[in-house]
Amino acid sequence: MASLERLPEPGTLNIGTDGAMAGRTGSYEKRLADMVGVYRDGDAYRQVLAENGPDAIVYRVAEHRYSDGPGELIVGTSTLLPGRVGDEFTVTRGHLHALPDRAELYHCLGGHGVLLLETVDGESRAVPLTAGQAVHVPGHWIHRSVNVGTEPFVTLFCYSADAGQDYEIISEAGGMARLVVSDGNGGWTPRPNPDHVGYRKAVA
Ligand SMILES: [Fe+2]
Repeated sequence: MASLERLPEPGTLNIGTDGAMAGRTGSYEKRLADMVGVYRDGDAYRQVLAENGPDAIVYRVAEHRYSDGPGELIVGTSTLLPGRVGDEFTVTRGHLHALPDRAELYHCLGGHGVLLLETVDGESRAVPLTAGQAVHVPGHWIHRSVNVGTEPFVTLFCYSADAGQDYEIISEAGGMARLVVSDGNGGWTPRPNPDHVGYRKAVA
């Protein structure tokens, strides 16, 4: 058993509805140039890239972690800016956990978004989220955030520190099975992605 002196101090965090996280141990940003191949409409992506530049921020992540060890948690915020690429709403890259049985909590702090959830067996869910609503994502669900509103879509997340991320499972499949697109009336709708060829079943 670890002695008390060797235990980390409890993390005290101040979390804003804008995703700001005082007390974080790390952060990163994903920019337009990082999203090559994520959106189905390549011409629309190149147009958005030309209009906004490669350094335009798509989403920010702030997090607090002690270590990557089993039993530890990663707590953080994701702030996904609004916008569209063609008729597809802005998304995070999305992933399956590298240890696929690891679950995750997403609690919406602000904005209007959708958590797009899929299994390798073809199940798909699009769960709308606004402030105060949360999704407890079981293990084995591929997940991605989508901003279907006009303000930043901010979520507080929490998952096992040893979970890791498998991003390639989506790119190898030609994208997720569903795209979240404009319905033409100011709303959103999930639409089958014709480029999706199915997920690999055996996760490396
Ligand atoms: Fe995750």
